[in-house]
Amino acid sequence: MHENTKEITELVVNAKKQAYEGKGIVPEPAFTKNIKWPVKCIVGPGLEGAIACESKVGYVNGSQGWLIYRGYDIFDLCAYSTYEEVCYLLLFGSLPSEKQLNSFKKDLIKLRSIPGTIGLLRKFPIKESNAMATLRIGTNFLRRESTYLDLPDYKPDTTSAISADEDSIPMETIPKGERHAIYEFDKSKNTKKPDNVDKNLYSPSGYDSCCRLISSVASVAAAGERLRTSQVVIKPDPELSHAANLIYMITGKRPTAVEERIMDIILILHADHGINASTFASLVVASTLSDIYFAVGSGVAALNGPLHGGANERVLSMLLEIGSPENVKDWFKKARSEKRKIMGFGHRVYKAYDPRARVLGPLAEFLVNASGSSENKKIFEIAKALENEVVINLGKDKKIFPNVDFYSGIVYSCLGFSQEMFTPLFAVSRVAGWVARIAEYLEHNRIFRPRTIYTGPLNKKYIPINKRIKKVK
Ligand code: CMC
Repeated sequence: MHENTKEITELVVNAKKQAYEGKGIVPEPAFTKNIKWPVKCIVGPGLEGAIACESKVGYVNGSQGWLIYRGYDIFDLCAYSTYEEVCYLLLFGSLPSEKQLNSFKKDLIKLRSIPGTIGLLRKFPIKESNAMATLRIGTNFLRRESTYLDLPDYKPDTTSAISADEDSIPMETIPKGERHAIYEFDKSKNTKKPDNVDKNLYSPSGYDSCCRLISSVASVAAAGERLRTSQVVIKPDPELSHAANLIYMITGKRPTAVEERIMDIILILHADHGINASTFASLVVASTLSDIYFAVGSGVAALNGPLHGGANERVLSMLLEIGSPENVKDWFKKARSEKRKIMGFGHRVYKAYDPRARVLGPLAEFLVNASGSSENKKIFEIAKALENEVVINLGKDKKIFPNVDFYSGIVYSCLGFSQEMFTPLFAVSRVAGWVARIAEYLEHNRIFRPRTIYTGPLNKKYIPINKRIKKVK
């Protein structure tokens, strides 16, 4: 790593020390071995506590504040790894050799160029669209550009589907959970290339499509931003890393070694996080044997919401609304009395300090100081004062602490990104987790199909329309 980035590594190492002060990661006895389905769990509203599948991709321990990708601690990956290496790790399960990493990087670089998708984006009303809407439609355009799914002679082969009808399980019985039916289609048949297909078109579920999505969702986000702001779309630079090229394609400036390093860390931090809402959305779509592009598109759509990735944009608006560190106490009191959710705080899983916020806070502070901008400094001071207020008031009892979205926007702003790009940047990184988990899930696919508890009436007598009494408004 570049000499100038040592300070950044130290920040991460210190964050790790703070996180593990007095505790470490201790493997639990018989940790996650030999799962026997069905598993018992207590399910709350919003599927809280529900266990949907097994995975070896990543582990989040919310009470301890641990985040692990394929066995590796997030702090170590941030301190010593790169986004490309982490993507390889998430996809293949082990850290690459130098040769494997170089070849993987070459594959990603080759896939940065998306002329067909950019052509289609130019016809899309980008200026009137939210940046996440552009990113979502862009994943569809990538599907068109990269796969043969829309070719006239491509017909999915469904003949090998086993006719185990979900609704033949009486809904009033508790599902037994045995592997009583194999719901899978024969994937190789289902995704068979039609004859005479261009060699650049990929299988919609293979390795190439995973790489395509990791690499070119970044290009879509960058092209979308350039077109939205009436700027020339910048061609990817094959000499640059994924992180540096992303900054370059969006801002038009080649980053310094420190900026590149920070971008790499922010990409690593956002790459995967259990089956959060967007990952689950993409798994649900993939489980129907739709395709990985549609699945990733649905991940983008789910990530957009303010309770999920969309919170990072809202955090900046909230800090601007507060206006100064002196206003924090009154603002917080009012927000609580109005029962407002404070953006960038709280988490379904973390009931301890989010390890990602532990890294992002110091990175934000570092960049704010380096920028010398009084505006940045003020925003950061408001953020620190708000963190203090929330943790004092809600930390102990409600276990509410800053989450990944609280400081990320300040980091993005200091790197030169507009507020509209905060959530797309989250997606650019999270796509690695989506595709890794989709690929893993499809190995033993079973369609996701939970149930509801019906609380409506039964036995209502049908009344023809002309006999229904009109309600007077
Ligand atoms: N501000 C104020 N109160 C909160 C907050 C918050 N940010 N988060 C949770 N609470 C309170 C909530 O009001 C409830 O209190 P009570 O028990 O008195 O009704 C309690 O904590 C439990 O909250 P919940 O909404 O039932 O928790 P959840 O697990 O359903 O929601 C969450 C998790 C992340 C959606 C929620 O904490 C939230 O809305 N946070 C603000 C939005 C945000 O920052 N989202 C980013 C999440 S992290 C990264 C990502 O996924 O993108």
